[in-house]
Amino acid sequence: MLTKQYIKELKRKNKDAVSDIINSQKDIGSINFILENLGHLPENFNSDFLYELLNHSHWQVRLNAVKNIGKLNDKVDTKSLFELYKNETDTNVRREIVSSIGRQRKSINKSILIDFLQDEDPKIVCQAIRGLLAFEKDNDVEKSLHPLVNHPNEMVRTIIYKEYFSKKGKSKNALPHTHTYDFLKNVVVKADVLEALQLVPDESVHLTFTSPPYYNARDYSIYPSYQAYLEFLEKVFTETHRITKEGRFLVVNTSPIIIPRISRAHSSKRYGIPFDLHPYLVKNGWEFIDDIVWLKPEASVKNRIGGFMQHRKPLGYKPNSVTEYLMVYRKSTEKLLDWNIRSYGYETVKKSKVDDGYETTNVWKIDPCFDKVHRAVFPVKLCKKVIQYYSYKGDLIFDPFGGSGTVGKTAKLLDRLFFLTEKESKYFEYMKSKTKNYDLYDNIETKFLTLEQFKEEARNDSVACLIQGIVVT
Ligand SMILES: C[S@@+](CC[C@H](N)C(=O)[O-])C[C@H]1O[C@@H](n2cnc3c(N)ncnc32)[C@H](O)[C@@H]1O
Repeated sequence: MLTKQYIKELKRKNKDAVSDIINSQKDIGSINFILENLGHLPENFNSDFLYELLNHSHWQVRLNAVKNIGKLNDKVDTKSLFELYKNETDTNVRREIVSSIGRQRKSINKSILIDFLQDEDPKIVCQAIRGLLAFEKDNDVEKSLHPLVNHPNEMVRTIIYKEYFSKKGKSKNALPHTHTYDFLKNVVVKADVLEALQLVPDESVHLTFTSPPYYNARDYSIYPSYQAYLEFLEKVFTETHRITKEGRFLVVNTSPIIIPRISRAHSSKRYGIPFDLHPYLVKNGWEFIDDIVWLKPEASVKNRIGGFMQHRKPLGYKPNSVTEYLMVYRKSTEKLLDWNIRSYGYETVKKSKVDDGYETTNVWKIDPCFDKVHRAVFPVKLCKKVIQYYSYKGDLIFDPFGGSGTVGKTAKLLDRLFFLTEKESKYFEYMKSKTKNYDLYDNIETKFLTLEQFKEEARNDSVACLIQGIVVT
């Protein structure tokens, strides 16, 4: 019977033993079992049968043959592999060939690897890039890899960007990952977010959680066109990207909105904000991570189904919208999440651990919240979840559209710091009035600043300004 132990013994027996047993097998499953369990190949191993198997009619046998040939190091016959690549139709086998040739790290294979960059399969191109990156500071390699930053495939572009471009222009003097600037700690600025952000250094915040103004749905958000609205948000989230620490998160709460019809002769218009905003975020360096659905009780939302309930005519179906999206993005980086987590000390990690009862799916059932002054506030419950799942204690949480200040209040409650901007005096004053109650016992009291005062604070925080070369005008 074929067992792993038996295959091990065969390898030791004599150099042709494995080849003999493979040749005697009729069944594909058994051939693959032997090939998959060959493990390390001894020096004197007769590999001729592996090359013969490259002509086998079953793709998996060819794949396993290529994998084993890849283990032969100096004895790999690259020419045979390349011949197979040219005629091979199975994508798995083709990818394995490229990977096997790449793994050898032999400079005579450089030109073949460069040829692979022309392949239509982006995974092959990525394998070839991986193989070529082994040749550090090689002119030919750099000349062929650099232009791939404009490759049509996003995976290819990302690898090249990370390898050659993302490290450039990074401030060597940036603060440690877990730290931020004093002048941003527990601050609310009454200003247009884009003006305030001009004063904020790169890599200052650990998490942004926000709900942007709805397109022309409320009086604080009048934009000349939907395109202008999206472009405004693009600017805000590009700036947010700049001030976000490496590999940290942005959570954006939006939902499709409806602009009511202007008369009976017109129809209302629905705008898919989360879907239309998404490409702008991804284009500007935000990596898409998750879509979380905030599910509200049906009784809490506007009734749209009433008409249909009466007439039941197809096409006139309008379901009640009980969901909003929390779109989760991460600032693109070549570093793994583990790198972010390891930046924190043992105690902080321990204290920040999420308690039992956390959400296990991407659908969160939470009642909406109503406020007498602000018409679109986050429920604290929602805010708590986002802050607990995506930040550590002591982190700086940013909300560019502060509103009634729920993000600030909740951040404080969870031992985080916050930085908010809000352009409307009405809401700024409202936040100020509410803060008096819970600010009393805090180490860092909340500062409510005008743009001028914020400029002054930034100027005074001379270390921050010097380090980042910010010119405060
Ligand atoms: C949807 S509300 C946010 C509510 C907030 N999440 C809360 O829990 O109270 C959006 C807020 O963004 C503010 N806003 C709109 N445009 C702004 C801008 N350019 N800069 C700063 N704030 C802005 C609006 O005044 C509004 O209060």
